[in-house]
Amino acid sequence: MTNDLIYRPGTVNDRQQLKELGLIAYGEFANTLTPENWGKMEASLSDEEKLTQLLDTAKVYVCAHRGEIVGMAYLVPRGNPTPIYPAEWSYIRLVGVHPHHRGKGIAKTLTQQCINYAKRTGEKTIGLHTSEMMDAARHIYEGFGFKMQQEIDNPFGVKYWLYSLDLTNNNAKGQAA
Ligand SMILES: CC(C)(COP(=O)(O)OP(=O)(O)OC[C@H]1O[C@@H](n2cnc3c(N)ncnc32)[C@H](O)[C@@H]1OP(=O)(O)O)[C@@H](O)C(=O)NCCC(=O)NCCS
Repeated sequence: MTNDLIYRPGTVNDRQQLKELGLIAYGEFANTLTPENWGKMEASLSDEEKLTQLLDTAKVYVCAHRGEIVGMAYLVPRGNPTPIYPAEWSYIRLVGVHPHHRGKGIAKTLTQQCINYAKRTGEKTIGLHTSEMMDAARHIYEGFGFKMQQEIDNPFGVKYWLYSLDLTNNNAKGQAA
């Protein structure tokens, strides 16, 4: 039942569950990607060093169902540039929901929490990257007003795009459609 869902900020104590949820949520792409490319994605989701760095840097919001984490979304604050994101942008990473709990609005709620946090902490831009195989995710982000900027390189052999939401624009929604 939806009432059993508890939303809260995540902590380093959630680390193991967050890692497992990443593998379960993104596991649907095991059948979409080639075995080699799924292997790369799986390795990236299992990378302890990357997860430690993300947990050290980002604000993470989780949704728990009877003590089990079934949804997650990270907001990395500005000042953490990558080849994709400029230093002045914040960005959303690793939105994932357990397949048994999809369609309950969990990803939308967690994305909203990331956007609210970004607004509260004075972020001007939120970026994210998403892919042609992530139809539900693109639907959610576009509903919040994220705009596609450009196609970006990626190691997984499918199309990925960079999206952004301008929080300085009063017309930017930042609220679910
Ligand atoms: C994307 C994901 C996080 C969505 O989680 P969720 O909790 O089921 O999402 P919500 O219930 O909040 O919202 C789902 C929305 O997508 C829509 N949707 C679902 N499947 C869709 C599809 N194939 N194409 C387009 N829209 C779709 C739903 O109708 C709903 O929108 P609505 O409320 O306007 O009707 C989840 O499917 C997931 O973990 N996918 C694998 C990992 C992933 O793709 N992460 C995103 C990385 S950028």
